[in-house]
Amino acid sequence: MGFKKITADEAAALIRNGECVGVSGLTAAGAVKVVPAAIARKALSEHEAGREFRISLMSGGSTHPDADGILARSDALERRMPYQSNPDLRGKINGGDTQYIDMHLSVVTQAMRYGHIPKVDTAIVEVSHVSDDGELTFTTSSSNNAGFCMMADRIILELNTYHSPRLCEIHDVFLPDDYPNRQPINITKPWERVGRGTLKVDPAKIVGVVETHLPDPVPAFKHSSPVTDRIGLNIVRFLEKEYVEGRIPKVFSPIQSGIGNVANAVLISLKDSEIIPPFCMYTEVAQNSVIDLLKSGRCKFVSSSTITVTEDLQKEFYENFDFFKDKILLRPTEISNNPEIIRRMGVISMNTAIEADIFGNVNSTHFFGKQMMNGIGGSCDYARAAAYTIFSCPSTAKNGTISSIVPMVSHTDQPEHDVDILVTEQGVADLRGKSPRERARLIINNCAHPDYRPLLNRYLELSEGGHTPHTLEYAFSFHTAFLKTGDMRNVLF
Ligand code: COA
Repeated sequence: MGFKKITADEAAALIRNGECVGVSGLTAAGAVKVVPAAIARKALSEHEAGREFRISLMSGGSTHPDADGILARSDALERRMPYQSNPDLRGKINGGDTQYIDMHLSVVTQAMRYGHIPKVDTAIVEVSHVSDDGELTFTTSSSNNAGFCMMADRIILELNTYHSPRLCEIHDVFLPDDYPNRQPINITKPWERVGRGTLKVDPAKIVGVVETHLPDPVPAFKHSSPVTDRIGLNIVRFLEKEYVEGRIPKVFSPIQSGIGNVANAVLISLKDSEIIPPFCMYTEVAQNSVIDLLKSGRCKFVSSSTITVTEDLQKEFYENFDFFKDKILLRPTEISNNPEIIRRMGVISMNTAIEADIFGNVNSTHFFGKQMMNGIGGSCDYARAAAYTIFSCPSTAKNGTISSIVPMVSHTDQPEHDVDILVTEQGVADLRGKSPRERARLIINNCAHPDYRPLLNRYLELSEGGHTPHTLEYAFSFHTAFLKTGDMRNVLF
């Protein structure tokens, strides 16, 4: 390898105060493992010396504690986009210390190319191979790597030998042309390729290579619960009915599944369906359950932007690479989440809500209108364009003191116009073709927890008149009841 080998601390020394740094990774998979912590160490020593040092950090999505977490604790993050899921960083964002821009993942590199957001100065990217002429093989995610490398003035590589150089066989690196000359993206099926297995960069931009040998630090999932199992089953029963009644094609439509415990439970329930045929996925994140689905043959092919699996499954993946390589394709987020392709293929999109209101507006990011949890990620990319947009959540949170079904969401990420189906462990509300009044009855009867149904019905009774019956005086009464008393059931009308 003709590039200069450097240590993580030498890489961090190259980063200047105020820089915009773009890192690889979407979840912990494919994320750079050692340079972010070295940048955090640099930040601490600069702060001790009385000098300013903060960066803007861009990524494909969330990272891991040794990136977002340690950088947040070291007060090294001035600005962060487009997504995060780290408790320490969440604290900085909600405290107003780090400016967080919660963006649709599909638009990040495009917005950067067109100058709508700052361009990356330095790209720090994990690869499993680099050729002397600058052909990069990304590891377990494609995310925004290609866009960052193309835009950056310089590139630092983490060459991670834990991951196989053969990963180029499952990558399809492609970025669309710029408008006004952009051509249709020629993907009509999840397995179709339009790009290359590697990304060619100008070798002169590669300023150093840090060698590592580390698996992706993907945490284990929480075990499913009776509530998440019930949600999974409700979704699968709904899809089975749609399939039997002929609204889903015989070959079945590609599935997108979001992140978290509910999403995992849905995929596990899909595995057991005797009605839904083997299916494909066109998604952004492939979690542990996807590997099981591939092994069982229930899932035939997965197009994703990342394979986010725990270490035991990473080993299994590499030991059986010949089996998996024809069943997985990793794409840049600009393609995995591209509304043009999602609409064309009629994707069935399934994501998780924090709360929904009785008219079908969904909040997937904020608690009580102001506290950021994670971010929208790719949920809206899919929600607007999918053939079926399904949101699910448990009907209550915090031991029943919070109803996830409220009169008005305290923050809107996906408006009623994008939400087709709402699901809790209580049941399914099919909102297609329903007016706001009809939606409200369905959501209260089918999705709200029985403890909250009378209260939500009372709210509707108080809200006579108008197309969308609301009483602004009481619209947030559930939220304020919780904030005052610790229990939404104490709401007073
Ligand atoms: N009010 C307050 N807190 C609530 C709540 C509500 N209405 N609903 C849930 N919570 C709390 C839960 O109690 C839990 O907190 P705890 O861990 O302290 O008990 C926390 O929110 C998250 O619940 P969790 O069980 O971890 O849910 P999850 O793993 O299924 O994640 C989301 C749910 C919504 C946070 C997650 O899916 C997300 O960030 N989604 C947005 C991005 C997205 O959809 N990405 C995929 C697109 S490809």
